[in-house]
Amino acid sequence: MREIHTELYPNEHVSKAVGEYAFNHSTALSPKISDVHGWALETQEKSFYMISPLQAQFHIWLAKAVGAKRILEIGTYIGFSTLAWSQAVGPFGHVTTLEFNPEYASIAKETLQRERITNTEILVGDAGESILGLSSTLQEPFDLIFIDADKPSYPKYLSLIESLSNSTTSNTRLLKEGGIVLADNVLHRGLVVDSSPSNPWSSAPLQKGERKWTMEDFQALDDFNKALASHDRFETFLLPMFDGVGMGRLRD
Ligand SMILES: C[S@@+](CC[C@H](N)C(=O)[O-])C[C@H]1O[C@@H](n2cnc3c(N)ncnc32)[C@H](O)[C@@H]1O
Repeated sequence: MREIHTELYPNEHVSKAVGEYAFNHSTALSPKISDVHGWALETQEKSFYMISPLQAQFHIWLAKAVGAKRILEIGTYIGFSTLAWSQAVGPFGHVTTLEFNPEYASIAKETLQRERITNTEILVGDAGESILGLSSTLQEPFDLIFIDADKPSYPKYLSLIESLSNSTTSNTRLLKEGGIVLADNVLHRGLVVDSSPSNPWSSAPLQKGERKWTMEDFQALDDFNKALASHDRFETFLLPMFDGVGMGRLRD
């Protein structure tokens, strides 16, 4: 049997070169998206919250490949990934994004207005509560749901998505039949799999403003990965790229 592990590049230099090569050989981001990323890197203290431009290319490609027109995002920050989803769904699609922190939500709102984006809405508050509120007023289910907020709540978000997508009446369920769940950071530097000192990231210096991830985060992410992979309603793939992207397709 062949090894199933992907040898991910021998050092940082090669990893960066491969990342840039992949970025340059994937459909270019629009100047709007690149500009917002550059602006946030320069001005926002927690810009490391954002997905990378390469991941944004992947999101746009995936959303277009599955024909997603209605996207729910859990975790907005300043709206960078929201902007990418907004481009992916096009002017007749719609993105709903959930953010707990009113300051971030307000920056995201300004950013999206400045870029003349009209197909997004931001709901401010705890995502769990917003999802419950949304599910009672939905006109149509979502095609894709992106989870990128507080890590300890990932299992709860999955459970909410699953339990609110049971109805056979399509307009009252959260995620449509065949819909996609995408979850960011589910491997977090491999620490979810191995947080011992043999993983050098376990003692890596933190970036400015970054908080140290705890065993509670790793446990919740592991619980999430196990719940998604073992659920008989989901077909799944865990992509060991970026910070680990969990992907599930709701069968029914
Ligand atoms: C990693 S950042 C999102 C980054 C964004 N998706 C991007 O790539 O540009 C996570 C965001 O989730 C928000 N958040 C944390 N807990 C939350 C909760 N319970 N409900 C809603 N948002 C929450 C944080 O305030 C933060 O802005």
